[in-house]
Amino acid sequence: QSRPWSHASGKVILLGEHAVVYGVPALAVGISRGALARATPRDEGPSILRLDGLPVELRADDEERDLSRSFRAVLEASGVQGSFLVEARTDLPPGAGLGCSAALGVALARALDPGATAALTAERAMAWERVFHGNPSGVDTAVSAEGGCIYFERGRGFERVESATPLLLCVGHTGTISSTKSMVEAVARLRERRPEMVAKSFDAIRSLVRNARLAIEAGDVRALGQLMDLNQMLLSGLFLSTQEIERMCGLARDVGALGAKLTGAGGGGCVASLVENRDVAERVLHAWKEAGFEGFLAETTSGS
Ligand code: PMV
Repeated sequence: QSRPWSHASGKVILLGEHAVVYGVPALAVGISRGALARATPRDEGPSILRLDGLPVELRADDEERDLSRSFRAVLEASGVQGSFLVEARTDLPPGAGLGCSAALGVALARALDPGATAALTAERAMAWERVFHGNPSGVDTAVSAEGGCIYFERGRGFERVESATPLLLCVGHTGTISSTKSMVEAVARLRERRPEMVAKSFDAIRSLVRNARLAIEAGDVRALGQLMDLNQMLLSGLFLSTQEIERMCGLARDVGALGAKLTGAGGGGCVASLVENRDVAERVLHAWKEAGFEGFLAETTSGS
């Protein structure tokens, strides 16, 4: 008998991506777009993962495929007995910085053990996430499992942040897919070549993130927008921005956005822009569309 579908949020990192891999805190919000999964017990044979859009079924006993190995890792981490048919799907674009892979991992872990806490579910989903990232900080799985707005620090877990006012975010796609793994590796190489420069950038990002948390708690969206802009400058300095990202940020600011920056890995993927109201949101989405970029108004989740 099938269990109900389990949901996991996609995410927008407001500030702190990349630096978070090295222990700097990050702020992220869950969005209603995400992933769904459900598990149905099987009488015999190995557990099977049916991922919507993937032409093949993934068997947990397949040693060749990365995805099968990560599926097995989630099954083992969840400690479930017996075998399952797990169906999963997502409405997040892959390689866009919106946490597609983390949301799938969290949805799988939750489908296998719906009663587990968000922290435990996120921890179990990390097994899946490692295949895609190599060295994931854990911010994606944490916010995907918890929803709402979180302040995350590697090795310390997350704290919920209560926003004094709802955050309105326009998310736009540059049209270019990027690999989180290779962007994280690029920062690691830069850090080897220019350790002082990278350390200074990370210190600056740490201050921005701390101030941004205060701004969110105080409902000061103007300050939050400015801090996002400053974070974008520092990310550009780490060679994570692209012409399209800069163009989209500029278009958003020109029509009245409070701030705009890349979100996630950079090098393509998505831009997140903070707006004060729905009128400005429409102007931002329109400006992007005119320039050939797709976007949507993100519905942020309220958290578990
Ligand atoms: O591109 P995404 O959605 O996987 O986000 C990556 C966030 C990074 O900070 C760049 C990596 C990480 O593990 O935190």
